[in-house]
Amino acid sequence: MKKKILAASLILIVLIILSGVFADRTNPAVRNTVAWDSAETCSQFMKSCADCHSHETRWPWYAHVGPSAFLVTHHVEEGREHFNISRPKMGDADEAAEEVMKGKMPPRDYLLLHPEAGMSDAQKQQFAKGLIATFGGESGDSHEQHGEHDDDD
Ligand code: HEC
Repeated sequence: MKKKILAASLILIVLIILSGVFADRTNPAVRNTVAWDSAETCSQFMKSCADCHSHETRWPWYAHVGPSAFLVTHHVEEGREHFNISRPKMGDADEAAEEVMKGKMPPRDYLLLHPEAGMSDAQKQQFAKGLIATFGGESGDSHEQHGEHDDDD
């Protein structure tokens, strides 16, 4: 009896792992060229953001096994929906600098698995400047009051 339960559990676990094959990992054609302000902004974006905001996603091994595969593909799909540099209509590109300065992007769970995507405060500031120069927008750095408040610099 115990052996049967064990065998059934093992089969179930293997099936769950294999189900990752069906996750929707797509990298559609890149149909947009970004006019980066500098090579540094571009490489930081590729390192910290491109996995979820472009069609150049580097799929990790856990995107191939269930159930994590479904979490990863869902995250990427959602990220691309909001902001995608690989489409002519990029979406919320002008909010990129603000998301970085507020520490919302890259998401925390992503950073746990991709520590190399993290940035020091100085790097964030530099990157945010580059994002503004490339995509426009404001850094959201100045004390968090909602509502418009333009400071040109
Ligand atoms: C692990 C995937 C992932 C990574 C990596 C990631 N994002 Fe996101 N991003 C998302 C998801 C999912 C959303 C949509 C839900 C949300 O706003 O939390 C999003 C939303 C956004 C938005 C739109 C916000 C809005 O309010 O509409 C911007 C701008 C953005 N991300 C910029 C970035 C930048 C810049 C980086 C790199 C520093 C980055 N993201 C890294 C997943 C990611």
